[in-house]
Amino acid sequence: METKIFKPTEIDAAAKAIRDGQLVAFPTETVYGLGADATNETAVKQVYMAKGRPSDNPLIVHVTGIDTVEQYAQPLSATAKKLIKAFWPGSLTLIFKLQPGKLSAAVTGGLNTAAFRNPDNQVTLDLIRAAGVPLVGPSANTSGKPSPTLAKHVYHDLNGKIAGILDDGPTEVGVESTVLDMSTDLPTILRPGAVTEEELTAVIGNVRSSHHRVGAKEVPKAPGMKYKHYAPNAQVTIVDREADWSAAMDWASHQAGTIGVMATDSILAELTLPNNIETYSLGANLDSASHQLFAGLRYFDLESPVTGILAQGFPDDGLGAAYMNRLNKSAGQVHFEK
Ligand code: TXA
Ligand code: MG
Repeated sequence: METKIFKPTEIDAAAKAIRDGQLVAFPTETVYGLGADATNETAVKQVYMAKGRPSDNPLIVHVTGIDTVEQYAQPLSATAKKLIKAFWPGSLTLIFKLQPGKLSAAVTGGLNTAAFRNPDNQVTLDLIRAAGVPLVGPSANTSGKPSPTLAKHVYHDLNGKIAGILDDGPTEVGVESTVLDMSTDLPTILRPGAVTEEELTAVIGNVRSSHHRVGAKEVPKAPGMKYKHYAPNAQVTIVDREADWSAAMDWASHQAGTIGVMATDSILAELTLPNNIETYSLGANLDSASHQLFAGLRYFDLESPVTGILAQGFPDDGLGAAYMNRLNKSAGQVHFEK
């Protein structure tokens, strides 16, 4: 099966494929998702197959608003409604307790909760409405690879395995949504994302943060113990301090093969680059760096293969928590040490 590229004008054809139980990748403001009818268990199971994803890792249900959530979840708290009002449509995924038997165990991984998100992308909101069903949507990459921020990333990983890709150009944010568990007494951040802890706290007061925040000087874990995710072929090393870049260039100049450098324009402009360096600009600041991170990692896999990658670290707060969470996983926690 050759995977079809649907234009934004072909939403009806994409929606029909979804209703027929086929898989269609869709754009969101964060990353591309791998869509299937959340009410069709056979279709949902194919999502795991196409990605090579372990079946106990539950999927996000994408909706166009609170109404669909209320059909599936137990009555929402006032806090939940506040969050929905403040952040939907947008990059906040909320986990709620379900009414029994409402969603297939293929969606929930057998849990009594499910994750819901109202993405901020008009093409996909139109797709969900045209399909008439909520869509499951994990990131549309092969399990373990960086999430896709362009339709061509999806095509590379999943061509031949899915019916189509709805192409709406590059995604805006570049890192996935914040996952907030509302089924616990205190709302708990399970995955940092584009909606920051600070923004959540401003709306609902205290939130717990269960994800592991990694400080700039954290010692790398034993190589064999590393949990790899978002991983390109080459080893990624994080350069945390601006002052370390010249030492990092010295290290790179002694490596065999080409080393990829991912950094902001101001850092790239200052560096004296050895001959064996290929650069990928992360733009001007943390926003553009988050937008470019996965695309840069994929660039050094597909378009300009390298033997190692040096990538710029950022302070671990605000959007930096999301950026560093992804970068630390792609690097298996390896940081540059002078
Ligand atoms: O921005 C995003 O969230 C993208 C776009 C496509 O919407 N989607 C995405 O999906 O990143 P995925 O499957 O790659 O990540 C969903 C995360 C996983 O870490 C999963 O374990 C967690 O949400 N999750 C889903 N349902 C859950 C549940 N009931 N309880 C706890 N964690 C859950
Ligand atoms: Mg993912």
